[in-house]
Amino acid sequence: MKLSASAESAVLHREAELAERYLRSRALLERARRSIPGGFHLSGRPLVDDDTTPLYFEGGRGAIIRDVDGHEYVDFLMAFGAHLLGYAREEVDRAAAEQARRGGLLSLNHSFHVQLVEALLPKLPGAEMGAFFKTGSEATTAALRIARAHTGRRMVVRAGYHGWHDWCLPLESFVPRGLDAQVLEFRANDPGTLERILAEHGKDVAAVILAPEMVLPFEPAVLHELLRLTHSHGALLVMDEVKTGLRIAPGSISERIGLVPDLITVSKALANGWPLAFVAGKRHVMQAAAGMHYSATYHGDTVAMAACLATLEVAEAEKTREHVELLGQRLIDGLNGLAQELDVPARAYGEPLSAMPFFRFTYPEPAQNALVTRLFYREVLARGFLLHPRHLWFICGAHTQQQIEQTLGGCRSALVASLQLLRS
Ligand SMILES: Cc1ncc(COP(=O)(O)O)c(C=O)c1O
Repeated sequence: MKLSASAESAVLHREAELAERYLRSRALLERARRSIPGGFHLSGRPLVDDDTTPLYFEGGRGAIIRDVDGHEYVDFLMAFGAHLLGYAREEVDRAAAEQARRGGLLSLNHSFHVQLVEALLPKLPGAEMGAFFKTGSEATTAALRIARAHTGRRMVVRAGYHGWHDWCLPLESFVPRGLDAQVLEFRANDPGTLERILAEHGKDVAAVILAPEMVLPFEPAVLHELLRLTHSHGALLVMDEVKTGLRIAPGSISERIGLVPDLITVSKALANGWPLAFVAGKRHVMQAAAGMHYSATYHGDTVAMAACLATLEVAEAEKTREHVELLGQRLIDGLNGLAQELDVPARAYGEPLSAMPFFRFTYPEPAQNALVTRLFYREVLARGFLLHPRHLWFICGAHTQQQIEQTLGGCRSALVASLQLLRS
């Protein structure tokens, strides 16, 4: 997209102004480049670019996060969805701190290991047995290992982001050779793509793993068809609800649409920022995990378990799962209204449900789309709203109706300013 000379100079001028806002962030990045490959961990990479958006943060409370330059933001990333209730939720962190004082990680088992499994199983469809892990990547990896042990088959078919482990990146040159023949990919929206893979490899496929947010627009019939196809070839369906599990009422997408998966993985909404993940499933499937090696030193950590028990209690008492959908829908409606009012090609939607909203420009020309996206998100951040340009957003229990209205106001002002820059 060709900008006029005056628009180009207006954009450069604004970039220079914004760069002044984030001086401490940039200084930390310069230091980090000397000791961290690339200067940041991958999930901490720049929202737009290094200079014109904040990169380092120092604290959060409720729905507000504060950067190292002293700016506050209404945060809609929530540490990639890890804070269902909002940052530093008193009851959760108190329970975690008390548990830490009791030793936290003990030599063998703790009653929490039993208590928490018992608390979680009834909340997940078909779940009769479960096991704890620390991250979503571990949970999905373990679920597939269990599926392989149960079926005696080796291949898996996947749709969605399931983590960073080798099997999740089978085409990369840095993973062991041959994974690409063991891990195949289908398009979640198109059951025909799964059908074709299963027609060819069905008897070797242990599991189909699906992150349900990949079915966009959300269409329960598609998910049921994927389950039917999977079972018709004797494979197991793993619903990867690491993002969605226990974030929405009545507990998961599977539950919501009456789908009973063979295995389910959950993590992000469990323990309000404390690391925990869970694999659960049908008894006869999970039994394959008995005696299997998937244990790790920190799997027995009870601090995150205490945090999880407290999170479950607060989320239940405050109807957080209903709240996040309600406010998410208001944000989506407001953003769509804004795009219409300003006559901008853009669309807000739940990815896939309103608790996880997203907003995308839809200019037909990719370069123009990329430019407006960049300008808009920079301006949104400069106005105190942390909205991610590439990753779906998360509403938390601490977001208020008033903050949603403020965010819509900020988005309006950011959009008007971005369009003005382009027209200058
Ligand atoms: C659906 C899904 N599965 C698995 C993962 C991996 O979880 P983690 O980043 O905790 O390893 C993610 C992370 O975003 C996810 O969204």
